[in-house]
Amino acid sequence: MAIKVAILGYGTVGEGVYKGIQNHQEQLIEKLGDAVEVAGILVRDPLKKRDVQPGTFITTRFEEILAIPGLHAVFEAIVGKEPGYTYLSQCIEKGCHVITANKVLFAKYGNELLKKSKQHGVHIGYEATTAGAVPIIRTLQELLKVNRVTRIQGILNGTSNFILTEMRANRLSFGEALKLAQDNGYAEANPENDVEGKDAACKLKILCQLAFGCTPDWEEVEVEGIAAITSGEVQKAEAEGFRYKHIADIRAEGGKLKASVKPIAVSSAHPLFSVEGVDNAITLETSLAGNLTLQGAGAGKFPTASAMLEDFSAILEKSLRTKIHLLSARVPV
Ligand code: NDP
Ligand code: HSE
Repeated sequence: MAIKVAILGYGTVGEGVYKGIQNHQEQLIEKLGDAVEVAGILVRDPLKKRDVQPGTFITTRFEEILAIPGLHAVFEAIVGKEPGYTYLSQCIEKGCHVITANKVLFAKYGNELLKKSKQHGVHIGYEATTAGAVPIIRTLQELLKVNRVTRIQGILNGTSNFILTEMRANRLSFGEALKLAQDNGYAEANPENDVEGKDAACKLKILCQLAFGCTPDWEEVEVEGIAAITSGEVQKAEAEGFRYKHIADIRAEGGKLKASVKPIAVSSAHPLFSVEGVDNAITLETSLAGNLTLQGAGAGKFPTASAMLEDFSAILEKSLRTKIHLLSARVPV
């Protein structure tokens, strides 16, 4: 029987998830044992044309998504804290696994949703909230269990890095580069979040919670975007061997966490100097492994869908293992 899923939101990311599922059925069947069926898609505007297979169920009513019989998982790719938080809470209560790309929602309500998911025996995937295709969440959750992470420094906003790269390498104006980032589907619906540092700050919060299990007083954290950087400053830095990078940084210092999110002119000796275009990269300072840097596409349709589908596959495999374990525990010896 097909594994039924629903997609909330059919913009850049929702469409990427839909197409990723259609184009990777073979891999999904091999991993999960069954085909994956998109049983419903939630949108806001019922009149927009959607590139989906004929007969695909599209609705503006969330209750109709929740009522789909045998729904296994929901991919959430809408914008802002609400209605996403209410929808995901209801999906979890119904026993559906959820996979979200919504970092604004997760930075605010992640802990609550994770707690709720445990109570209801389901899983939450949130890799796509932070650094696009880069598997930073999984690395922190599953690959660094013994190491202590002492510092995280990252380029966490693809739009900002793309704009800075275009201003430097192709001498585009800030406005021209932002327009290109929007055309490519990298920017948020409200690009202020990208260029004023708020998007990177949400992602830093998510990483901080995972790596340190607590957070600094965010009211005191300096958050500055790239909006005020001029082409002249970018070119001057270039001539002196420096590049502007928008860097989110958090480190444990004297028993406290210190964080900042701001543009910095870095030299070629800096690990993030060569991270260009829409790429994100994160350098983790760790107690045993030393420095680890992960890099890849930080935004865009398919890189984000990749993170969501890898989460989905891992979650279904995990829940399958749990079922087998429970069943074998019941077999009399
Ligand atoms: P878009 O603006 O392209 O798409 C948003 C979608 O959500 C649209 O289909 C819209 O419907 C739907 N939607 C919005 N509000 C509602 C609502 N109240 N009820 C039902 N549907 C609604 O955004 P993106 O695809 O770019 O981003 C989606 C999410 O993923 C955001 O949270 C974003 O921060 C995150 N993200 C985005 C990345 C990217 O590269 N773009 C990367 C990683 C995360 P309609 O089509 O009818 O207008
Ligand atoms: N607008 C975001 C960015 C999308 O540019 O990084 C990925 O989270």
